[in-house]
Amino acid sequence: MKVAVIGAAGGIGQALGLLLKLNLPAGSQLSLYDIAPVTPGVAKDLSHIPTDVEVTGFGGEDCSPALEGADVVLISAGVARKPGMDRADLFNINAGIIKTLTGKVAQTCPNALLGIITNPVNTTVPIAAEVLKSAGVYDPKKLFGVTTLDVIRAETFVAEAKDKSTQEINVDVIGGHSGVTILPLLSQIDGVSFSDDEIASLTTRIQNAGTEVVEAKAGGGSATLSMGQAAARFGLSLIKGLTGEDVIECAYVQGSGDNAPFFAQPIKLGKNGVETILDYGSLSAFEQKALDDMLPTLKGDIEKGVEFGQAK
Ligand code: NAD
Ligand code: LMR
Repeated sequence: MKVAVIGAAGGIGQALGLLLKLNLPAGSQLSLYDIAPVTPGVAKDLSHIPTDVEVTGFGGEDCSPALEGADVVLISAGVARKPGMDRADLFNINAGIIKTLTGKVAQTCPNALLGIITNPVNTTVPIAAEVLKSAGVYDPKKLFGVTTLDVIRAETFVAEAKDKSTQEINVDVIGGHSGVTILPLLSQIDGVSFSDDEIASLTTRIQNAGTEVVEAKAGGGSATLSMGQAAARFGLSLIKGLTGEDVIECAYVQGSGDNAPFFAQPIKLGKNGVETILDYGSLSAFEQKALDDMLPTLKGDIEKGVEFGQAK
């Protein structure tokens, strides 16, 4: 298996590279690309860790050499938030970056599974879909917005609030990846119950957790280490699916369109990427209202991406 990380010299990229070097199956290849000149050095540094994963670093203007033969591509290239910004403020810079990089994926490794980390995810994923469509290689089963950070945050915060081990708590998070579009399904967690006030405050904390980190880093960026872990978990799950293991993750994908053209929900991964989009079960009245209320925002974010992706 070959995994390419694009944006590999950044905060997420370096943490992700380290976790993949440690956890990819023996014999895998890890390909690292970033426009930052330090990238070959990041690859050299990782290559001294004694695991059976071959690391190669690529720089320069064109990421194509890094993408050659990739089975999985994870993109975290782009700019991150500073205090006072929301994720949509990143659109002006990151939309063009995702358009260009996805064009290279379409040319070089059109069959790869593509996970987009770069924000605003609600919009960058539809941009990528339009680029792949215009190259004639779009397969909705192979394009993912990486929303795993919302899941691991929800699991951490619930375990803390209920004095449980994080290993006991599984939470599905549906919708999208910004503010009110992040909807943790707290009503469905086995073995724990919440008061209405707890549900409201935990939901708000999970929705605002990215901002919590941005403010705590005080201008030094957004979540990188927790996101590195989340992206590694998701990337390794994609690999497990490709190698025939049954694995379920939440991710932002093109689905039935019942709620919105792209929607995060649990999916079963397999040899072709998305094997089955799973039902997320019945919602509490609180969750149903939150879902109804988020849809105009989510659909607006998607339309913006479709329009940008289609523009010549
Ligand atoms: P960072 O600034 O530390 O790293 C970004 C890297 O991208 C830099 O090394 C930069 O050189 C590189 N880059 C910029 N343009 C590039 C291009 N055209 N080709 C290749 N590389 C390029 O930022 P970060 O903290 O790693 O965050 C990266 C992105 O991930 C941001 O958009 C951030 O908002 C997003 N993010 C998403 C999630 C999520 O849950 N999906 C979580 C955290 C951060
Ligand atoms: C996060 O959820 O931490 C990321 O989307 C980064 C951000 O800007 O909040």
